[in-house]
Amino acid sequence: MATSASLAQAPTAAAPDAAELRGVAQALFAPVPTAVAEVRGEAITAEQVELGKWLFFDPRLSRSHVISCNTCHNVATGGADNVPTSIGHGWQKGPRNSPTVLNAVFNIAQFWDGRAADLKEQAKGPVQASVEMNNTPDRVEATLRSMPAYVAAFGRAFPRERDPVNFENMARALEAFETTLTTPDSRFDRFLAGADSLDAEELRGLSLFVEKGCIACHAGVNLGGQAYYPFGVVERPGADVLPPGDKGRFAVTQTASDEYVFRAAPLRNVALTAPYFHSGQVWDLRQAVAIMGSAQLGHELNAAEVESITRFLHTLTGNQPRVANPVLPASTAATPRPE
Ligand code: HEM
Ligand code: HEM
Repeated sequence: MATSASLAQAPTAAAPDAAELRGVAQALFAPVPTAVAEVRGEAITAEQVELGKWLFFDPRLSRSHVISCNTCHNVATGGADNVPTSIGHGWQKGPRNSPTVLNAVFNIAQFWDGRAADLKEQAKGPVQASVEMNNTPDRVEATLRSMPAYVAAFGRAFPRERDPVNFENMARALEAFETTLTTPDSRFDRFLAGADSLDAEELRGLSLFVEKGCIACHAGVNLGGQAYYPFGVVERPGADVLPPGDKGRFAVTQTASDEYVFRAAPLRNVALTAPYFHSGQVWDLRQAVAIMGSAQLGHELNAAEVESITRFLHTLTGNQPRVANPVLPASTAATPRPE
């Protein structure tokens, strides 16, 4: 006969009550909406989305003509590049891991340190960053103006403007396209809506995610992306995972208490976006979960707990956007040459 001690360790511990857990989850999280109609109170048009799609896939936004937004935010691989830190202009290695663009519109601010208020402001960064696309607004505008089909597309996207081909509108169109990169209908979202779409192990994982306190930082639509916390609230991870040179939000606010503070990572589609953390040094999602337990909660999660939570995180993978490859306008004699 089994003793109570061996029962407690049995891998088939009773699954949490699904209905009760659903009620708890509905109060903490929200499903990914199928569409985003506006940003900053302005409607997004189909013409802006189409132009933004061209721009997102166009490597001529980069000085070299070989790097597009999709190079580092590949919509075929979870909206990220799946390398530790991104490779940009001249094969330079950037300092941080590329976060997914999927569902980024639901984050409170953009980048690991939240230094860009929204997707429009964000989009101007990589085009100019020397370790990313290494271009200038003037050169981008000259490039876009050199192709009549782009000039026409900007005209359709911003019909009330007299001179619509400019860097600002490039950023607006990219933002418009990115608002379409949402991943609704994950198994977790179906569970929130009332379906029995999670198995016993995944329900246990969800229950642990709530009880252990992950929800203090990872809640809402994106299970994160809403606020900033020190990475290592309780125990600072080693220098491999948390390189001392990257002080996170401190660089934005210059406030001592913001040293090593980062935006709680959004966890939608996290199963697709290894490696993890801003340093991109952790390949195994289970290891990332275990690190969160010790660093953020001061709690060593046991192997079974880590496994259940990881299984739960896998249920956050939604329907991936099906993006038809755009056919881009051909360069003309006036298009600046790659450098
Ligand atoms: C961050 C979009 C080009 C690498 C981001 C974010 C967005 C985005 C929305 C923030 C996501 C979040 O905070 O959750 C774009 C667009 C691009 C572009 C629209 C084209 C104009 C690139 C390229 C690279 C790259 C070419 C690689 C060379 C990164 C990295 C971050 C980032 C490393 C995080 C940087 C940090 O937190 O300091 N990008 N991206 N991006 N992107 Fe891009
Ligand atoms: C990052 C899960 C608790 C704040 C992450 C990541 C995962 C995760 C998987 C990496 C995501 C990625 O790189 O894309 C969990 C789990 C938790 C938990 C399972 C509970 C066991 C917490 C708590 C806080 C927190 C309580 C706040 C006190 C953060 C922050 C990051 C992060 C700031 C970004 C770290 C960085 O700069 O790379 N979390 N988390 N997490 N989480 Fe948690």
